[in-house]
Amino acid sequence: MAEAGTLHDAFIDELRDAYDAEKQLTKALAKLAKASTNPKLRQAFESHLEETQGQIERLEQVFESLDEKVRGKHCEGIAGIIEEGKSIMEEDFDETTMDACLIAAGQRAEHYEMAAYGTLVAWAQAMGHTEAAKLLQQTLDQEKAADKKLSGLAESGINQSAADAAHADEEQDPVGAGARSGRKTASSARTGRR
Ligand SMILES: [Fe+2]
Repeated sequence: MAEAGTLHDAFIDELRDAYDAEKQLTKALAKLAKASTNPKLRQAFESHLEETQGQIERLEQVFESLDEKVRGKHCEGIAGIIEEGKSIMEEDFDETTMDACLIAAGQRAEHYEMAAYGTLVAWAQAMGHTEAAKLLQQTLDQEKAADKKLSGLAESGINQSAADAAHADEEQDPVGAGARSGRKTASSARTGRR
């Protein structure tokens, strides 16, 4: 009977998964950037794409530090998240709504990666792979920062302007005033938008 796998084997396996996930994400981030209307959002995706290329190299260093061959293993999890992102991009949303959806898609990917790297760092530390732990922590920090940046963009206007467009009728209607009387003004306000 084959010997049971150890945490070290699981660690290498997860590293291969992460390596493949980053490669899938380089393509996905380019698409997210292209689909963005807000220039700051596009910039955020583009700069995270650059970071991701660095993360791929960093994972190669991790494999080297462990005397392991650089190898990826298809990451089904990120593939599913990317697939969902793609179907959002095919929807016919207005520009700010699409931006809000792109942020949502990007953040799903970031959180997946944060979970993966959080585990990798913890396992590397537990097994005394100090160099690997240090490198993986650098990537984890970048993923967290990218996630925070996306939250910041969503909360500093993108969500609100998407929400305003969704509820344009109510916008013209002060709290407590009749909903019906506000209707005409609301539709003229909508055509005047942007
Ligand atoms: Fe990443």
